Amino acid sequence: MNEQQRIENQQVNAANSSDKKSAKDYSKYFERVITAPSLKDAKKRGKEEVNYQNDFKIPEEFQGMGNGRKFYIRTYGCQMNEHDTEVMAGIFMALGYEPTETVEDANVILLNTCAIRENAENKVFGEIGHLKSLKMEKPDLLLGVCGCMSQEESVVNKILRTYQYVDMIFGTHNIHRLPNILHEAYLSKEMVVEVWSKEGDVIENLPKVRRGNIKAWVNIMYGCDKFCTYCIVPFTRGKERSRRPEEIIQEVRQLAAHGYQEITLLGQNVNAYGKDFTDIQYGLGDLMDELRKIDIPRIRFTTSHPRDFDDHLIEVLAKGGNLMNHIHLPVQSGSTDVLKIMARKYSREQYLELVRKIKAAIPDVALTTDIIVGYPNETEEQFEETLSLYREVGYESAYTFIYSPREGTPAAQMKDNVPMEVKKERLQRLNNLVNELSAEAMKKYQGQVVEVLVEGESKNNPDVLAGYTSKNKLVNFTGPKTAIGKIVKVKITEAKTWSLNGEMVEELKPLEVK
Ligand code: 5AD
Ligand code: SF4
Repeated sequence: MNEQQRIENQQVNAANSSDKKSAKDYSKYFERVITAPSLKDAKKRGKEEVNYQNDFKIPEEFQGMGNGRKFYIRTYGCQMNEHDTEVMAGIFMALGYEPTETVEDANVILLNTCAIRENAENKVFGEIGHLKSLKMEKPDLLLGVCGCMSQEESVVNKILRTYQYVDMIFGTHNIHRLPNILHEAYLSKEMVVEVWSKEGDVIENLPKVRRGNIKAWVNIMYGCDKFCTYCIVPFTRGKERSRRPEEIIQEVRQLAAHGYQEITLLGQNVNAYGKDFTDIQYGLGDLMDELRKIDIPRIRFTTSHPRDFDDHLIEVLAKGGNLMNHIHLPVQSGSTDVLKIMARKYSREQYLELVRKIKAAIPDVALTTDIIVGYPNETEEQFEETLSLYREVGYESAYTFIYSPREGTPAAQMKDNVPMEVKKERLQRLNNLVNELSAEAMKKYQGQVVEVLVEGESKNNPDVLAGYTSKNKLVNFTGPKTAIGKIVKVKITEAKTWSLNGEMVEELKPLEVK
């Protein structure tokens, strides 16, 4: 449903808000408000028009709604979710709410959830359970569940049935509706459910409260049309739709003007950027080529899909400057057969060829990846192909996961003959390799001078500063507090498996854009 359809469907919410929470038949929520995640429906996407809404405003009637009230948002999952939280915080502030760091102090609590694996979901259900006592003590407290889990029919059903004290459930496409959702929750005694399944909108101009003033996230696109067989994201985040380049460029310029040192372009599959434009031929390579001319020291992007990673992008990244020499390139498996079952749409050989091209163009590149082990029926040989690919590419780090079946995805229907102990043992073997190669990559820094963007004091010791290199290596070092927020040179004195220790040598001159 897009914004236009929503307006046409406005009666739907009114009808639902008169339903009693205790009603046993929950199906009506899905008939009327929600199109539950459906592979069949989702795959039909692509023909719908992307709706651009550029004039987001807080409706006058809601202004001041938050005066004297505080909000608390707990975020699970990926950077996209973190950034959504920044937008929701921006909306809360625009409504007059103040932020608080404790749930006890809050008048509204939101759980911004992740659906990627079962354990992520279990954590959230645990937290909803914990919050029950607080909700009982403070009946005026509003408790909301949003983010990716809210996009799943089974989750919404479970909350409606088991956690009836939850006041609001809203989806990833409904964030801009937060003022209306809060308003309705204050007025009605029933749970407010607003989740749209198929979404074609891009909403600009949303307020944001960024978490820091050194690094910032910038959305370049939303959704995913890849439909890897294990993945819930195409359902929870909707179809691929790109923000217009001029909007992105303007946002990055503003961030640069405000003194931000690093931006990360965000999308579930950033390499598909621009594919949905019908009026212009414009891809991620074109965007990066324009952004690199902006006076901001560091630009990154995440997450890439190898299938859409084109030569033009490689050519642009090779120009270096403020485009960082680190690429996160999820491979998922080293076996062509498993990749086929995963519907990744590339083979081991094609992936290795892409890596070869990237390394030829950017010899100093650091590659990192995501890997799933224990895919349904993965054989020992297929797993070993993952190990051998890992060594062959020479990744510097990886996020590794045991496959977790997600309801509604094709892989969840597959029979699986791999016992959990075997999956765990494979994960352990892979992690040993990941640690080995990470330590090796770190060792090369011993005695070297690296450029570090200083983010603040180290978590464990306020006398030590911490920041990241261009390849995203964590560096803890001694230096003056005035270095915070700047890019400085640090001499590495000790290399550990996951971080480096050093001492500051000097501040870096402002960047010259080539
Ligand atoms: N089970 C395990 N890992 C998954 N990922 C995505 N879906 C699943 C799943 N069902 C991993 C992939 C992806 C990363 C964000 O999470 O490796 O790249
Ligand atoms: Fe989790 Fe994926 Fe949603 Fe991010 S987009 S919060 S990883 S399910």
